[in-house]
Amino acid sequence: MKETAWKSPSNIALIKYWGKYDVQIPANPSVSFTLSSSATSTRLKYRTGKGAVKVFLNGEETPAFIPKIQLFLERTRALFPFSQQMDFEVHTSNSFPHSSGIASSASGMSALALCMMSVKKELGLNIEDFFQEASNAARLGSGSGSRSVYGPLAAWGKHAEIEGSHDEFAVPFADVADIFKTFQDTILLIDKGEKTVSSSLGHGLMNNHPYASSRFAQAHENQSRLLTAMLDADLESFGEIVESEALTLHGMMMTSMPYFILMKPNTLEVIQRIWSFREATNHPVYFTLDAGANVHVLYPESHKEVIMRFIDTELRTFCKDSSYLCDQVGLGPTPLF
Ligand code: DP6
Repeated sequence: MKETAWKSPSNIALIKYWGKYDVQIPANPSVSFTLSSSATSTRLKYRTGKGAVKVFLNGEETPAFIPKIQLFLERTRALFPFSQQMDFEVHTSNSFPHSSGIASSASGMSALALCMMSVKKELGLNIEDFFQEASNAARLGSGSGSRSVYGPLAAWGKHAEIEGSHDEFAVPFADVADIFKTFQDTILLIDKGEKTVSSSLGHGLMNNHPYASSRFAQAHENQSRLLTAMLDADLESFGEIVESEALTLHGMMMTSMPYFILMKPNTLEVIQRIWSFREATNHPVYFTLDAGANVHVLYPESHKEVIMRFIDTELRTFCKDSSYLCDQVGLGPTPLF
């Protein structure tokens, strides 16, 4: 078999994608920090065949992942028409523990999409823009995966103030003050269990959500405000918008039908403590949440020492097994061959 391999990072949304229509078209634009340490490495082996797929996670055959990969191959047929005449082995591993509650869909789907692009290139097929096509393909596997293809930030979904922004692929975004290009993200692992409600199901609940249209309009506005704040190194506004986005995401979950709550008591405890610490010390430390209980603590690199001390003395005790992951803004995927 021939092979190709890519390592692709996870990302954390600042403006949240929540709601989609048609085939993976976002209901609103989103912007994310591309991460550095949290990543998926995927080696794709391929040969002439009939579309058979095998998946190996950390060296162990994992048939449970096959349907997701097959759906990805179906949805990306226009981009990768050769996939039906090939057999594939996907060998994948995550830098973060499987049980950490960190979603691997963005990093996993972007790594796979990049591998498929390398196969396409190897076959000598026409490619206009390698990363743009990779982002488009990653989106078809997992919406947020479209943003993992670029660092230090990426924007997905049409937005009036981001030139070239598109619903089908993310665009790299670096029009921010330098302070954001080395921002830290310490991920507090509050609950390591499997998610009780999948993202796909959650997105679906936005279809008949009573607040959907105002939420989608708000995301556009928040994105505009965030872009200005990031350009101006206005940390206070940055924090206000990012925290509001996180709580709005969870507010949408709590007000959908059926309703659900993904935060845990310790999620709220940590948020309260971040607020108290910030008020008492004036240090620029903020939080965001993804579709789960874990808390992403965001702060400038220049404050690393003091914030890590705060995390170790005050927040760590609220984490499952006292565990957290240290990450920071990163530059995007790297080829492994
Ligand atoms: C809350 O990208 O996981 O993390 O497109 O169904 O795979 P699918 O959903 P997914 O949703 C991510 C939702 C989020 C917000 C975000 O990353 O923008």
